[in-house]
Formats: sequence, C-alpha cells, structure tokens
Amino acid sequence: MKYVLVTGGAGFIGSSLVEKLIKNPDFFVIVIDNLSTGSIDKLPRNDSDRLLFIKLDVNNYDDISSVFFNYPIDYVFHYAAIVGVQRTLRQPLKVLEDIQGTENICRLAKNTNVKRVFYSSSSEVYGESVDFPQNEDTTPLNARLPYAAVKNLGEIYLKTYNNEFGLHYTIFRFFNTYGPKQNSDFVISKFIRQAFKEKQITIYGDGMQTRTFCYIADNVDATYNHLLQCVENPNMLPQIINIGNDNEITILELAQTIKKLTNSNAEITFLPPLQEGDMKRRLPDITKMKKLLNRPLTPLHEGIKNILDNNIFY
Ligand SMILES: NC(=O)c1ccc[n+]([C@@H]2O[C@H](COP(=O)([O-])OP(=O)(O)OC[C@H]3O[C@@H](n4cnc5c(N)ncnc54)[C@H](O)[C@@H]3O)[C@@H](O)[C@H]2O)c1
Repeated sequence: MKYVLVTGGAGFIGSSLVEKLIKNPDFFVIVIDNLSTGSIDKLPRNDSDRLLFIKLDVNNYDDISSVFFNYPIDYVFHYAAIVGVQRTLRQPLKVLEDIQGTENICRLAKNTNVKRVFYSSSSEVYGESVDFPQNEDTTPLNARLPYAAVKNLGEIYLKTYNNEFGLHYTIFRFFNTYGPKQNSDFVISKFIRQAFKEKQITIYGDGMQTRTFCYIADNVDATYNHLLQCVENPNMLPQIINIGNDNEITILELAQTIKKLTNSNAEITFLPPLQEGDMKRRLPDITKMKKLLNRPLTPLHEGIKNILDNNIFY
C-alpha cells in the first residue's frame, strides 16, 4: 500500500484527483484541508476504508508535522492555497502566508523520506508573457503579484530542497481549469450561474483577452499518469509540466458559447477592466502533458456540457 497525501484535497482540483486515486487499491489517500474554500461534500463518499480526511492548516508546522510523523507518507500532492484572482488581490498578506505551507511540506517531506512532492504551481508565474506558446523551459518567468510570487517561490523551495537534499519533485503549472465542483467565482462557473440565474453575463474589459480552458479530467488523468510513472521510476529527474489546453479563445467567445449551450436570454455586458491580474493572453505549450495524457483533450463544449449534466454548483 502506498500512502498519498493531498493537501487542499477538499478543493476543486484536489478532490477530483482524490476520486481518481482511491479507485486504485494500491493507494491509501490522506486528505488535509482547512475548508476555507473547499468542502467535505466534494470528497467521494463510499471508499472510506482507504480515504482519511483531516481538517488542518498546512501553514501550521505543528499541525501538519503530526500527519507526517503518524503516517508513512510516500507521495505528496501539495495543492492547498488561496486561489482566485479577486480573492488573492483582496488578501495579499494572507496569500503570502502560503509560502510557509510549501516550506513545511518540503522540510517534512525531506525529514520523513517522502518519495516525491507534486506541487500545484500556476500559469501566473509567467506573468504577462510576450513569448507564446508559454514553454516550461524557455519562457521567462515574470511573477509580480503576491499569488504569482508565492507560486514562484514555492517552485524555488522545491528546486533548492532537490539541490541540497535530493528531494524528488514535479512542478505542475496549472492553466485555467474548469469542471463540476468548481466554486462559482471562477469564470466558467460564474458565466453558467449568470446564464441561468441572472439577466446579465458580465465581462471585465472588452472581452478580447484570451484564455485556454482545461477540463478537469484532462488535468487529473495527466497528473495521475505522471504519478504512476514516478512510482515505476523512483529516480525520475525533477520535472516542470504545464497542465492546460492549447485551444485559445477570447472571453467574449466563451460568454457566447455558454449563452448558447444554456439557451439563456441573459445579455452579455462589459464592466470596466480589472486594475490588476487580468492577463491579455495565455497559451501553454503542452507537448509534455499530451504525452502523459495519451488521449485527445476534452473539447470546451463537451466539458461545459458535462458540468451542465452534473448539475452540481458551489
Ligand atoms: N483552478 C485553476 O484553474 C488553477 C490554476 C492554476 C493553479 N491552480 C492551483 O491549483 C491548486 C488547487 O486549486 P483549486 O482550483 O482546486 O482551488 P480550491 O480553492 O478549490 O482548492 C484549494 C483548497 O485548498 C484549501 N486550503 C487553502 N489554504 C489552505 C491551508 N492553508 N491549509 C489547508 N488547506 C487549505 C481550500 O480549503 C481548498 O479546499 C491551488 O494550489 C491553485 O493555486 C489552480
């Protein structure tokens, strides 16, 4: 049995990964989460014999160390973080506290011989790029806002623990991800809510900023397949992998697509642009991810239909 710890495991991406992990009888999954934006309802229900939930704050060393010293943890997915453009802009000092969480994970992973740490970094580390598609090895990092700087420093912690102590790691740079169970303050779930319940679908700026949207199953399958590779090959070198989709659309096109798929009468309207944090363009190079996924990416309209069929909104 392999022990896998998922921090932030009651969140959108974490809980979706947990669903996949517990289907494998070789894994015992420990979820820790402070439930600040996550919810126990997002966790699978029927598999409690290999799933343990502990409510705690990863930024608190004493709390998190008790988990590492009580369970023989093999792999850590460190996904806990304050997330969301608006939320992170509103609470910059709180965002900076997440540096402590990543330091705690590195230190404890090293001291308890964890086999590998998988870290959820973000496309935000590239900042406002001029280099497209954004490549893990060649595109310069240009983090400015606290959330991006914290993710960048998190990456540096992992690299440094690898250099000094040989801690194995993989950095996933997640680009916009969407799917059932996502909180409604993210653009796709927000537009769906507005399309159903409100008179307007609201866009910041002129809607010409572009994004790519990665369906949650593509994120989870790629990261899970990578875990299996690392189980197979414990000495795999450190990796940095963009996890996203390379189909680029404007936010206006996204609003129009959602309006159509929901048969909504809501009007698409434009708000003043955000002062900060709304990049003009994002487009990842996902050559590495495609090899891991080994199947076609989920098209946007199919992913949105899955959300509508699931009918679960947070
Ligand atoms: N969703 C995306 O598009 C996206 C894009 C880039 C990066 N990411 C990263 O992926 C990870 C997961 O994001 P998500 O979209 O699932 O967000 P989410 O808010 O649904 O999940 C984050 C989880 O972490 C928990 N958490 C926050 N601070 C914690 C702490 N100090 N201790 C314990 N638990 C804590 C929250 O309660 C929540 O359950 C985050 O690290 C995020 O920065 C997500």
